[in-house]
Amino acid sequence: MSGFLIHYMDNTIKLIIGASGQIGTELTLKLRQLFGVDNVIASDIRIGNTELMAEGKFEILDATDKNAILNIIKKYNISEVYSLAAMLSVTAEKYPHKAWDLNMNSLLHVLELAKEGHINKVFWPSSIAVFGNSTPHTNTPQNTIMEPTTVYGISKLAGERWCDYYKSKYNVDVRSVRYPGIISWKTNPGGGTTDYAVEIFHKAITDRTYNCFLSEHTRLPMMYMDDAVNATISLMQTELPINFTSYNIAAINFTPSEITKSIQKHISDFSITYAPDFRQQIAESWPESIDDNLAKTSWNWKYRVDLERMTEIMLENLKLRYNSK
Ligand code: SER
Repeated sequence: MSGFLIHYMDNTIKLIIGASGQIGTELTLKLRQLFGVDNVIASDIRIGNTELMAEGKFEILDATDKNAILNIIKKYNISEVYSLAAMLSVTAEKYPHKAWDLNMNSLLHVLELAKEGHINKVFWPSSIAVFGNSTPHTNTPQNTIMEPTTVYGISKLAGERWCDYYKSKYNVDVRSVRYPGIISWKTNPGGGTTDYAVEIFHKAITDRTYNCFLSEHTRLPMMYMDDAVNATISLMQTELPINFTSYNIAAINFTPSEITKSIQKHISDFSITYAPDFRQQIAESWPESIDDNLAKTSWNWKYRVDLERMTEIMLENLKLRYNSK
């Protein structure tokens, strides 16, 4: 991961819940690098990839079990929790109640533990899924109409309101961003509508062709993983006043057709076909681009990796991985 984060003087112990997931894996690796392996505790209901498990502490943890979270907090003297466990948009449509249970309870437990004084700071991710059909789709403002149509989006919007409630009522230090689709090569995403933008790179290398579940001109906001991790850690570390419940953050946005052209610059015989399914409707309810001015001015957020650079990084690393198999 390109090291564009400064080093912080911070010896507090951090717990990542959902550390084996797409964002959790790389966030954990970066936190270990910045704050020391012994200051970062990874946890998840399932074990993670080889790199995550190779060094550092790892605990099996069910994010819906408040006592189990508290036991780990006490065991390691945790002061910061990154609460990432969640069911994403596509899976949540299959299991609406299970998704609600996981997405809400995992957050409420951590907020309660902060209110009770067991931890000092919480990070919880929201998503562009909080927006819906009635939201302005281009340059979507920080404050706007929010009528999400997916269970995932409803859970994220409710989560934002809970964070705000605990912040204003109990003075809990909870910080949040609305992630766009996140693209990375180390750990696969699972069950999201934006997952096509990761699958396409794998298929470009293995099959030279990809059958896309979204249509050609469906534009969505996206971000390379390093930028998402950087946003998360810099928001958690900033000393500037964090007034907002969940900040819009933006990097790039593109359509399946545009990402195809970017890949074709490196793999000229790569081709794409389109077979939009139920996920098309979810994608169409979300913004095409995001206005993240508030994050920029409040805590100096800035993305680094553009579409062309991201394509290079993805292809380079995935080629190495497939060649070594
Ligand atoms: N990547 C998520 C999804 O597609 C959006 O936050 O569900």
